[in-house]
Parts: sequence; C-alpha cells; structure tokens
Amino acid sequence: MSNLGKNKQLTLAKHPNGLTQIDDFSIKEIDIPEIKIGEILIETHYVGVDAALRLIVRDSDEFLFRVQPGDIIHANIAGKVIASNNPEFNVGEFVNGSLGVQSFAISDGSNLEKCNIDLAPLGSWLGGFGVSGLTAYFALFDECKPQPGQTVLITGAAGAVGSMAGQLAKLAGAKVIGTTSSKEKCKWLIDELGYDVAINYNDDDWFEQLEKEASNRINIIFDNTGGFVMNEGLKLIAMHGVVLLCGSTSQYSQEKMDGPSNYIWLGSMRARLQGFVIFDYVERYSEARENMSNWINSGLLKIPEYCCDGDIGDFPETFGKLFEGKNLGKMLLRLPIAD
Ligand SMILES: NC(=O)c1ccc[n+]([C@@H]2O[C@H](COP(=O)([O-])OP(=O)(O)OC[C@H]3O[C@@H](n4cnc5c(N)ncnc54)[C@H](OP(=O)(O)O)[C@@H]3O)[C@@H](O)[C@H]2O)c1
Repeated sequence: MSNLGKNKQLTLAKHPNGLTQIDDFSIKEIDIPEIKIGEILIETHYVGVDAALRLIVRDSDEFLFRVQPGDIIHANIAGKVIASNNPEFNVGEFVNGSLGVQSFAISDGSNLEKCNIDLAPLGSWLGGFGVSGLTAYFALFDECKPQPGQTVLITGAAGAVGSMAGQLAKLAGAKVIGTTSSKEKCKWLIDELGYDVAINYNDDDWFEQLEKEASNRINIIFDNTGGFVMNEGLKLIAMHGVVLLCGSTSQYSQEKMDGPSNYIWLGSMRARLQGFVIFDYVERYSEARENMSNWINSGLLKIPEYCCDGDIGDFPETFGKLFEGKNLGKMLLRLPIAD
C-alpha cells in the first residue's frame, strides 16, 4: 500500500478541560499496513462530527466508552473499499462504521454497514440517513409516539438529530416547537424544515415565548441538550407527557454535570423521563430507512448537513465549531478525496 502514502490518525493528546482546544489532539502518521485474510482497507471520505465525543474524552470512569490520551479519536466514518481480502466486500463499495478519525482504516467487516449511495449520498449515511436520523426516528416514533394535535418541544432543534426529529414530528401531525441559539437558526428551522415555532434560548423572554406557544402544555420534550432549557421546559410538561433523554450536549464539557431541579413536575403530571440508546434498534434500521427514503423522494423530508472541507488535522477545529453551534443539521468533515 506504499503508493497511497501515509495514514493520518488523530489521537487524544490530553483530556480536555471545558471546551476542547486544538492542543488536546495530536496527529500521528503511520504506514498503511497490508490487509490480512478477511480484512478490507477503507479510504475515508467523510468523518461524522458528533457531540457525544466530548462526553467520551472526559477524564472520568463514569462512562462505558472512553478515549484515553494516545487513543485514536472515536468517530463514525464513511468511505470506499480500496482493497479487500474479504469475500463479503468488493473494491469500490461504500461503507460506514465506527473506525475513528483517520484517513485509512482496516476492518474485518464485522463493524461495517454498506452504504447504497442510490438511496442517499455517502455523507448522509453519517447523518440524517445514519445514526442521527435513525435516532430521531426511533426515539420519536417508538418511544414518544406523537399524536396529531399534540405539542412537541425539540431542544437542540437545529442539530443533526433535532433537525430530523422536528420534521418527523411534523409528519406525525404534531405542533412542533424548537429551541436553538440564534435568530438566524430559528428562521432556518421554520423556513426550511417546517417547524411551527422556533425560539432563541438566548432571548431574555425565551420561556415566556415558550409558555405562550405551548398554552395547552407540552406532550413530548425531545431533549438533545439538557441544561436550563430542558429544566424550565419541565414546568410545562402535559399530563402523561414524556421527556425523552436523547442527549445532554450542554453538560458534556461541564466539570460537574447538573440534573433537572424541576423534576417534581413529572410527579404531579404523571409524566415519564425516558432514556434512549439507538443501538437497541439496530435490527430495524432498514425499516426506518425505507420510510425515510419514501418521504425524501416525496419531498416530505430533508436531510440537513453542514459540510466542512478539510483534512484529518482539521477535525479539532471542526469539532470546536459544533460546540459554537455553527452547524445547521449534521456536521461533517469532508476529506479532499470525497466525491
Ligand atoms: N441516545 C442516542 O442514542 C443518541 C444518538 C445520537 C446522538 N445523541 C445525542 O443527541 C444530542 C444531539 O446530537 P447531534 O448529533 O444532533 O448533535 P448536534 O445537535 O448537531 O450538536 C451540536 C449542537 O448542540 C448545541 N449546543 C452546543 N453547545 C451547547 C450548550 N452548551 N448548550 C446547549 N446546546 C448546545 C448547538 O446548537 P444550538 O446552536 O442550538 O445551541 C450545536 O449546534 C447529543 O447530545 C448526542 O450525544 C444520542
């Protein structure tokens, strides 16, 4: 594989303190090893930029997945098979998997999904057509079960999961309210994704706006961020409502994580706080993709993406932009090789 050059890998230099800094990461260049029997070599085209990475690089033993100094940075990547010693995979096929931030990856195929780029472009297999969209689909339809006329609040509404969840809740006939960090992002949620209402949580009167728009209370809080938006939202939960804990982005870089002090509303409203992990639904991904593909083809569903062009070494800066809220939809790092 010497003609391909070196494999650039991004590793953790040290556990971050607060938001990640460029020097929390380091780049390593290694030879691309020869593939053994049963293995394939993948050239990375897209790297998914996921908020959860900040959680797993914490200096903490609390979480199942961890990245320690010296380890390759976890990420889902999508790319092309460029060499194969595995009869299940042909050169030229596209795949995605959790193979880390690196320009080439070797796999035995067990941790990979094939990407049919006739169904969705390759990058979308990391976003709306991948884990982000599947999370929105199953968390909403299987756990929250929105009904026509109900009110759904989506926090982190303009992010990878939120931008899909809001559209899906609209398809279910609900009134959909989203929260995000700027006037421009609010306008995008309404104009491009069909949200009924979008509220800038940086407005002084954001909660009064929410109270006014949710005058019949909120049946479903689809929570991507945790923090004060989720906590205040609990005061408006409806009878038998559900608060779906999809993610807690606001807490991932906090040294001490804060829980919701307004939980008492769940008791009086007979509401439930529901955890969720997408990997419980892996057997049903194709079912979701078939429905999403039909909605995309009918113009009922968009897959929002925010692509940053760059190389492996640009990942730390791109990850920083995610926590500045620069993205509309899924944040992707597109490597120069990508089509
Ligand atoms: N349970 C599961 O199986 C599962 C699967 C996938 C993802 N997740 C979780 O779902 C959540 C959303 O994931 P995603 O991929 O869609 O990420 P994302 O929303 O695209 O992530 C970035 C967004 O988070 C918001 N944000 C950043 N810092 C924040 C802060 N301090 N407070 C509040 N919001 C902040 C920003 O939006 P604003 O500009 O609006 O602030 C930013 O655009 C994450 O917590 C992720 O870990 C869970």
